Amino acid sequence: MIFALILHILGAVIWVGGMFFAHFILRPAAAPLEPANRLPLMRRALAQFFPWAWASVALLLLSGGGMIKLGAGGLAVQIMMGLGIVMMLAFGHVYFAPWRRFQRALDGSDLPAAAAQLKQIRHIVLANLILGLVVACIGATGPYW
Ligand code: HEM
Repeated sequence: MIFALILHILGAVIWVGGMFFAHFILRPAAAPLEPANRLPLMRRALAQFFPWAWASVALLLLSGGGMIKLGAGGLAVQIMMGLGIVMMLAFGHVYFAPWRRFQRALDGSDLPAAAAQLKQIRHIVLANLILGLVVACIGATGPYW
C-alpha cells in the first residue's frame, strides 16, 4: 500500500508540477520572444514534458487502481478517480489533437496556425492544472473527512 501510495504521489507531483511550471513560469518567460523563436521553444519544452505526463498518468492509474484493490475507498477516492479520469481524457485530447496539429503547422512554417493550436493547448492545460490541484487536495485530505 505504501509503495503504491509513493508511486501515486510521485505521479501527481510530476504531472501537476509540470503543468504549473509550463503555465506560470515557462509561458510568461517565453512570451516576449518572436513567434519564430517562441513556438519552436514551446514545442521542444512540451515534447520533453509530455512523456513524463504519460508516465504519470500510467503511474496514477496503476497505483490508484492497486490501492482500491487493496481496500482503499470512500467518497474522496470516488471523486478523485472521476476527476482524475476527466484529466486523463483531457490530456489525451491535447496530445492527439491540438499537439499534433501544432507540430504539423510548425513543420509547414505556418506560425499563425501553430500559435492558434498552442493557445488551445494552453487553455486545456490550465483547466487540467486547476483540476489537478483540486484533485490532489481532495486525495490528500480525503482520510480526514
Ligand atoms: C484516476 C484514477 C485515480 C485513482 C483510482 C486514485 C486512487 C487513489 C487512492 C485509492 C488513494 C488512497 C486514498 C486513501 O487511502 O485514503 C489516493 C490518494 C491520493 N491521490 Fe489519487 N487516484 C487517482 C487519480 C489521482 C490524481 C489525478 C491525482 C492528482 C492529480 C491524485 C492525487 C492523490 C493524492 C495527493 C493522494 C493522497 C496521498 C497522500 O496520502 O498523501 N490521484 N488516490
